[in-house]
Amino acid sequence: MPTTAIANANIALIKYWGKRDHGLNIPAVGSISVTLEGLSTKTSVEFSRDLSEDRLILNDEVAGPAETGRVSGLLDLIRSRAGSGMKAVVTSSNNFPTAAGLASSASAFAALTVAATTAAGLNLTPAELSILARRGSGSAPRSLFGGFAEMRPGQNADGSDATAIQLFPEEHWDLRVLIAVTSDRPKDTGSTDGMELSRRTSPFYQAWIDSSASDISQMRAALEQRDFEKVADLSEFSCLKMHGLALASNPGLVYWIGSTVEAIHRVRSLRKNGTAVFFTIDAGPQFKAFCLPQAQQEVEGALADIQGVKRIIRTGPGHGARLVSE
Ligand code: DP6
Repeated sequence: MPTTAIANANIALIKYWGKRDHGLNIPAVGSISVTLEGLSTKTSVEFSRDLSEDRLILNDEVAGPAETGRVSGLLDLIRSRAGSGMKAVVTSSNNFPTAAGLASSASAFAALTVAATTAAGLNLTPAELSILARRGSGSAPRSLFGGFAEMRPGQNADGSDATAIQLFPEEHWDLRVLIAVTSDRPKDTGSTDGMELSRRTSPFYQAWIDSSASDISQMRAALEQRDFEKVADLSEFSCLKMHGLALASNPGLVYWIGSTVEAIHRVRSLRKNGTAVFFTIDAGPQFKAFCLPQAQQEVEGALADIQGVKRIIRTGPGHGARLVSE
């Protein structure tokens, strides 16, 4: 019997970009995110003595060696912890575009961690799950938790304190999130390669690291107080700072397309006119607007009106990763 888990994607309000240890996948900065209801990955894991290698079925197709290797890397850590040598069949599907800047690696590795550790008979603490999920993807530990989560970079060389925590549950604040999908194509440079390029070449990298702790503590306080204006300012600042860092890498990383930039201007002009809305954008062209419930209709109308916006996904703070019965 396979073990199945579901995890939701998340969007960072304070961004993670850059690693302090590449091999152990330890982020160089902390990050704060919102886990998103309904944008999920469902993953089943079954270990078997009959298999000679791991097999990954991703969105109904046999995955290539790169994706399978990334999954096997995490399974190896789980196997060694469980004292097992059995290979696994992993079946995973997303209900949103893979690799187009909707953080599919976060929901994927959160779901895989929960399903595979359970299938291997391990009963781990949230911190231990965080450490494993992080080895898959630095944003994945945040998707273990519902609502608002913080990923801490920690200080230990082995990454034992680089874990995520829940800041506030999903009920803390009824924020609405509108994702304007501007492209279904996978991005040219994934986050892992992009952030490594920025670390190596961007002249702004050290300033990014030095300013991160203050962004985190201000965001924690603003979320606690449900201070929309403050959260809006800090989010846009962190997003544009990350993209500034990416643009100033060599060669520069331009994740936006025309409709992404148009959406930035639309949201800024709405906000200037008193609408409770702000934006954030990850390493891809999709555009995410956060707003208060009373602004949702107006914001949705404005985004739908932008040329190149293919569709709008409505979501908001959602559940953490959990086991499900098939
Ligand atoms: C721009 O978690 O995908 O979405 O640890 O290399 O797998 P790896 O990177 P990943 O990076 C996410 C970057 C981001 C910002 C964020 O989610 O904080």
